[in-house]
Amino acid sequence: MRSYQASPVAQVAGEITVPGDKSISHRSVMLAGLCEGTSRVEGFLPSEDCLASMQAMRALGVHIERPAVDVAVVRGVGLHGLRAAGHDLDMGNAGTAMRLLTGLLAGQRFDSRLVGDASLSRRPMERVAAPLRLMGARLTTTRGTPPVSIQGVQALHGIDYLMPVASAQVKSALLLAGLFADSPTRIIEPAVSRDHSERMLEAMGVSLRREALQVELQPPARLHARDLKVPGDFSSAAFFIVAGLIGAGPTGLLIRNVGINPTRTGLLDILRRMGARIEVLSGRQAGAEAVADLHVQRSELSGVQVPPELVPLAIDEFPALFIAAACARGETQVSGAEELRVKESDRIAVMSEGLRSLGVPHEVQPDGMRIEGRPEGPVFAGGMIDSHGDHRIAMAFAVASLRASAPLHIRDVANVATSFPGFADLGRRVGLALEDGGSGT
Ligand code: S3P
Repeated sequence: MRSYQASPVAQVAGEITVPGDKSISHRSVMLAGLCEGTSRVEGFLPSEDCLASMQAMRALGVHIERPAVDVAVVRGVGLHGLRAAGHDLDMGNAGTAMRLLTGLLAGQRFDSRLVGDASLSRRPMERVAAPLRLMGARLTTTRGTPPVSIQGVQALHGIDYLMPVASAQVKSALLLAGLFADSPTRIIEPAVSRDHSERMLEAMGVSLRREALQVELQPPARLHARDLKVPGDFSSAAFFIVAGLIGAGPTGLLIRNVGINPTRTGLLDILRRMGARIEVLSGRQAGAEAVADLHVQRSELSGVQVPPELVPLAIDEFPALFIAAACARGETQVSGAEELRVKESDRIAVMSEGLRSLGVPHEVQPDGMRIEGRPEGPVFAGGMIDSHGDHRIAMAFAVASLRASAPLHIRDVANVATSFPGFADLGRRVGLALEDGGSGT
């Protein structure tokens, strides 16, 4: 079991580029695989999660070359060109791969079975399976979780579906299934969630009608291959944004080429309400997605009530936000975030366990947390943290070391490679004292 030893340091500084966006990388290989023609994907995230999607698409008959570690050249097989894998498709730790591929495979004529690791095998799948059954899909979950078995069907039917939770994974699974339906699929979300699927589908020529919380997909005859540029992952940048806010030296920290799609940047809005000094520089387009450089300065943060509508727009950033909140003056209250309980770990329980062992006063609630911050001096006592195999918990506490009074020993960090290969190296580059703490228990 890998671990980090994260020792306190005076400050971080410098310039970094974070690796490609995980959500967009998953979608790039899935959708490019369904196109007619070849798509070149630059900035592909070579993380374990995205490689699981790539391997699955290969197993389904798509030829994918990797001329460089972050480039994928995908030779699409056309909308109806996939073939049975002939074996279980292993999604590892990747919820996005599991949910999106379930949608994509629900409309195929052949059978498939999707499996995952211990964490993924605890995550809810009926939220995707139930609406897919309404479309005519034939699939079973294992007591609501993976493995998922999908039987081939002739065609699916479009539905009008009001989603009970704001989830881009559910929305995207239904859009992917909708590609194989004989009538339009209309989805209504309770709150805005990330829209990378919609943007990429439109770029590939699919007709979508989008209005506020609704999206309607017209089943296309074909998808057109497109070269894609994947921006840096805002969710990976988030750890360095918080590191800069709580520990940057006088020149701040510059994070280049970060995706700033507004359905992803809820954390920026929340942090700015807390008094964060973050400049968004050189805004530009990378295909269908917006990117910018972010300059982060050390800031005096104040606690905030997080508006519930920002929760889905910052859903992966709460581990990092909780660390910022612990370093803020006064109280931060997060509510309406019960989805955090069904991520790679129960992020409310696991963050609480870590904050408790480092002496940060807080109160756990069913749908969130109240954190009592401390703006000056060391905020975190040293000690042992268990990430419970959750990449984002491990990285959040690595950043907390900036304001710790003694080293943090963070256990079970191997899964950082599911989303952010090279995190520890980049951390060291800006000054974090992050060492491999060995592989003991
Ligand atoms: C993702 C959507 C989010 C997010 C996950 C990636 C996606 O999950 O937490 O890391 O790529 O669509 P939900 O849509 O289930 O909230």
